[in-house]
Order: sequence, then structure tokens, then C-alpha cells
Amino acid sequence: MIIDLRSDTITQPTPAMREAIAKAEVGDDVYGDDPTVNALEAYVAELLCKEAAVYMPSGTMTNQVALRIHTEPGDEIILESEAHIYYYEGGGPAALSGVMCKLIKGQKGVFTAFDLERVLHDSENVHFPKTKLVCLENTHNRGGGQIFPLQNIQEIAQVCQDHELKLHLDGARLWNACVATGISEAEYAEPFDTVSVCFSKGLGAPIGSALAGSKDLMRRARRFRKLFGGGMRQAGIVAAGALYALQHHRERLQEDHTNARILAEGLSQIEEIEISPEDVQTNIVVFHTKKIPAQTLAQRLKERGVAILATGPNSLRAVTNYMVTQEQVRQVPKLVAGVLDLDPTEALATSKVKPAQK
Ligand SMILES: Cc1ncc(COP(=O)(O)O)c(C=O)c1O
Repeated sequence: MIIDLRSDTITQPTPAMREAIAKAEVGDDVYGDDPTVNALEAYVAELLCKEAAVYMPSGTMTNQVALRIHTEPGDEIILESEAHIYYYEGGGPAALSGVMCKLIKGQKGVFTAFDLERVLHDSENVHFPKTKLVCLENTHNRGGGQIFPLQNIQEIAQVCQDHELKLHLDGARLWNACVATGISEAEYAEPFDTVSVCFSKGLGAPIGSALAGSKDLMRRARRFRKLFGGGMRQAGIVAAGALYALQHHRERLQEDHTNARILAEGLSQIEEIEISPEDVQTNIVVFHTKKIPAQTLAQRLKERGVAILATGPNSLRAVTNYMVTQEQVRQVPKLVAGVLDLDPTEALATSKVKPAQK
């Protein structure tokens, strides 16, 4: 049996979720006739305290539609240097919106209003592209599930307002930030013009994301969703899974956070691994090898039934999720130590694990 920590996107629908899916009322959503999609969109809009929301097949699509509705070709957007939108969306900003990306090097994906102000240029100067949009990511995937502090967000939003820039949130894992901090989805969403959220990560729904914002922006979003090929028909079948996940699986994310801490504490006892467990705030554990290439470690672990992604020459990422039990998580550091040819019992002192940040 594989301990699959590649991502929280590997989560499969639970029996109760499958039952909700089986019973879903459906209609043609391109005509606005699908009652389950409509219920999901209304639920998301209410949760995020936005006027409207639009269901889409993926987080990549919600982000790329957001870019398209806020910009014109030739405009500039500003985002963190390892933002999912820039790093993992297939060149979407250039291909689908024709925009330039200006990157800010953050600390684990987080940057400040000061960092933003420093890269702004005079938009009236014809030499420069027009800057239209700033994008933040919360939690930050390549930043190891880092939470973007609300105060930073609010200060960045003020700079955006002063410079007439729109603000978009890639909130694929916003649920994790809310559970970890106790700050509500609506509070986090408030400073943003558009917010993208995903149901198919730790929440465990099979498919889908939503974009939320004003009614006008969401009308535009529906147009580009169609243009990008995301107009689905009896989408209530999958939206039912998303609605179920949203209503039943948010609180349980805390278990993933606790397991991530347990994993990080265990890995930190291994001489050959570099990791600071206190940096693990949610369900993503990023760690580094000192000697062997990350790919080699990932390959050897796979042979022993543990799937972890190598995300750089010396970096690996493990994402806790509800398909992996705490007992299995506790085995992983021992297996890593074994793979690194250490004596697992010697290398691993049993450690008291603190719960993830609340
Ligand atoms: C932060 C972030 N944004 C967006 C996405 C894209 O979601 P999807 O895989 O549904 O396109 C992901 C996927 O892992 C993500 O981690």
C-alpha cells in the first residue's frame, strides 16, 4: 500500500460524498439551469462575502480567467516569484491573457506592501507596461503551505487602492489558512477584487474550483470560462461533491496540519535532512537533502511505498491529506532514515509534537 504524500489533490471522494453525488439534481449549467451548481455558487459567494461566484473545472482556470477579466494584452501583473499562477500554470498569463509578469521574491511566498511599492513604476510613462493586477497566494504552495498574514494583505490592498490596481487571491488552500488561524474566509477575502478557491485539494472533492467577486466581474468571468472551454453542462454531478466537501470537510483539515507537524518533527531528527518544523503552518512539508539528490531520495522512497515529490535539486514536498493516516505518517521518517542508510532507531528520537498553528 502506497503512502501517497505527493499532493492533497490525490484525495478521493468518501462514501458519503459519493452518495451526495449520486443524488445530485442537475440541469444544463451553460443555461444557468443546474440547481446544484447554483447552490454551490451561492454558498461560496456567501462564505467569501462576495456578490457572486462561478464554478469552474480547475484552479488553473479560475486563476487564468481572473487574469483575463482584470487585464488587456500588454498589461503587467505583479506576483510572487514562485506563485502557482506563474510557476505551474503552463505559461497561462502569456498564452491566455498576453500579460507581462513582474516577480517579487518573497519569504516562503509572502511579501510586504513595501516590497510591492518598490517595484511599481509610473504607469503614465509610455515606456512601461500598464500595471493592472497584483496576485497573492494563501496558503502558498511552493512556500510550504505558508499563511499570508492578514495584516500584510491589508497593507498590500491599501497600496493597490492608492495605485488603482486590482487584487486577486489564489486561495486554492484558503480553507487551510482559515482552519490554522481561526480567521474566516470572508475576512481573508475582503481586501480582494477576486478570489479563487479549490474544492479538489484537502477538501477531497473530485473536481472543481470557484471564482468569486462582484456581479459585474463574474458576468465577465462566465464569458471567459466559456471561451476557455470551461462551460460544463450537467455539472451538478461534480458540484455536488464540491458542495458536500465544503460543508463537511473544512474543519477536518486540522488533522492534516497536525500530521504535517508530526512528519516535520520526525524528519528534523534525521541528520541528512534540513527542515524547520516550526515553519510548517498547514499541510505542506517542504524539506531538503544535504547530500543525495532529491530525485534519488524520492525514487528510493517510492520503491518502499512512499510517494513524495522532488520539487527542486535538493527539495522535496510532502502534503498530508485524508488518504494517509497518522499512523502511516509516523512511519515515513523511519523509512526516509532507512533509505538514507541511517539506523532509524538511532536517528529518530521520539519527539513531543505540538499542534499546527491555530
Ligand atoms: C496554490 C494553487 N493554485 C492553483 C492550483 C491549480 O489547481 P488545479 O490543479 O485545479 O488547476 C493549485 C494546484 O495544486 C495550487 O496549489
